[in-house]
Amino acid sequence: MSFDTTEANRRGGAFEDHDELWLFGYGSLIYKAGFEFEQRCAATIEGWQRRFWQGSHDHRGTPEAPGRVVTLVEAPGELCTGMAYRVTPAVFDYLDHREKNGYLRFAKPMRFADGRIEDGLVYIATPSNEAWLGETSIDAIARHIQQSHGPSGPNRDYALNLADALAVLDAQDDHVFAVAERLRELIAVE
Ligand code: SIN
Repeated sequence: MSFDTTEANRRGGAFEDHDELWLFGYGSLIYKAGFEFEQRCAATIEGWQRRFWQGSHDHRGTPEAPGRVVTLVEAPGELCTGMAYRVTPAVFDYLDHREKNGYLRFAKPMRFADGRIEDGLVYIATPSNEAWLGETSIDAIARHIQQSHGPSGPNRDYALNLADALAVLDAQDDHVFAVAERLRELIAVE
């Protein structure tokens, strides 16, 4: 699969034929929408966890020096908390462009605070995409993020904004909080 998933999402993307849909954001989409929505609220998806395993060539790094951003990886029994937005397919052009560095549209069941479950659209970068970086230690991830910058700004802002937004949502996320803690330690001695 090529770096740029825009065309793949346009051709076979989920939810194209819906008038309205739920979008589930778990990374920058939690703290920075940048598109119109009717309502938003916290939601969880089951069987997936957030990991800083995806390379960013276009937002928090460059093709020569990719940053590290989150994607979702399968994890039976785990819950991932994020933000659900009620949107129309008019947002697809914007989102397909924003998420073009390896992310594909998937339909996943999301659970709301009242227990209701509905299918939502989620952008996930799978291990088969060419910008995939994969697993490494928390320390290596934090050092990588500390040094990365891209057109959307410093990679550290992405990671720390995400950790802050998850804390506001009262979300459980050992991985993101451990990366943010290590990153803060590294920044403190710069
Ligand atoms: C998301 O936020 O749902 C996708 C990953 C990102 O853009 O950070």
